[in-house]
Amino acid sequence: MISVNKYLKEYKLSQMRAMRKNKKAELKECLEDFNGKLVVITGATSGIGYYTARKYASHGANLLLINRNEEKSITVCEEIRQDFGVECEYKIADFAHISEVRNVAYELLDSKIKIDVFIHNAGVYSTKKLFTEDNLELVFQVDYLGFFILNYILKDKFKANGKTRVLLVNSEGHRFALSGLDLDDLEWEKHHYSGLRSYGKAKTAQLLSMIKFDEYFADSGVSINAMHPGSVKTNMGENNGRSYRLFKHLLIDRSAKSPEISAKALYYLGVSKEMEGVSGKFLRLTAEEEPAPHALDREVAGELWDLSIKLGGLE
Ligand SMILES: NC(=O)c1ccc[n+]([C@@H]2O[C@H](COP(=O)([O-])OP(=O)(O)OC[C@H]3O[C@@H](n4cnc5c(N)ncnc54)[C@H](OP(=O)(O)O)[C@@H]3O)[C@@H](O)[C@H]2O)c1
Repeated sequence: MISVNKYLKEYKLSQMRAMRKNKKAELKECLEDFNGKLVVITGATSGIGYYTARKYASHGANLLLINRNEEKSITVCEEIRQDFGVECEYKIADFAHISEVRNVAYELLDSKIKIDVFIHNAGVYSTKKLFTEDNLELVFQVDYLGFFILNYILKDKFKANGKTRVLLVNSEGHRFALSGLDLDDLEWEKHHYSGLRSYGKAKTAQLLSMIKFDEYFADSGVSINAMHPGSVKTNMGENNGRSYRLFKHLLIDRSAKSPEISAKALYYLGVSKEMEGVSGKFLRLTAEEEPAPHALDREVAGELWDLSIKLGGLE
């Protein structure tokens, strides 16, 4: 088992200071248009994904949304087509079902579309330990494995396109996984489950796999970056019980900002000239920041990569 101390020794005061400074950093904006380009966004039926879809559409980009809910997808696409006159299509995949994610990924792989920006945004927060039909803990599967499967299947398509920018809507919450990943206990049998821990570990897993994807994309023109979208008021966590929702409404939501800031940041990261050639970074909105030490562990990143290929049936 990984000891907490292994990572604690790697924390530096200078990083803490930089994080404090980043909290107040000015949000960088990109004012250029993105006419006729194709942007894929997962989880665009509410919150950050929805605002980001509208932001890209307002600059002329066409959209392909990957959502789990058909009714909401129809409404969002109709609204975006009407408001901005761009193309907006959707595909359905519940990330709690590996087969659905794989099917959509292979459909995109076989299609002739050229993806300019791919935003992995879908996510969930669960105070309860829940398992999917694939026998995996829900948050790990939805927030991490779903992204991994899509990105793994599409990685060579991105390379063939040459300039795809892949963006991961990650979280400062990755820092909650102080002891890193426990790849031998994905079932949470040996460790106490909590919402913060499972969320932190899933987001950590995403950052660790970014290291490997970044290596894979080296010199191809494809970039992959992860970002914290700010603390913003969305539906995140609304699937939980009454006491958690009360806590969220009274405490978290009160100081939370509008997801418009996340959308502006994701537009800057996906389109701006300044981000050309930048890859493998973690940003707090648009300010580069060092992730927690446990999210930089290359050895665990390698183990996770192999395990994810197995879990996703990608061998
Ligand atoms: N809000 C924040 O302050 C904050 C901070 C840091 C990071 N984030 C990250 O931002 C991302 C977006 O979250 P949000 O805050 O915008 O929350 P949100 O409003 O709840 O949006 C989450 C999106 O993910 C979709 N989704 C949830 N479970 C899914 C599943 N099983 N399969 C496919 N799609 C699924 C939701 O679809 P439905 O509409 O069908 O539920 C929705 O479109 C997440 O990755 C989250 O971890 C948020």
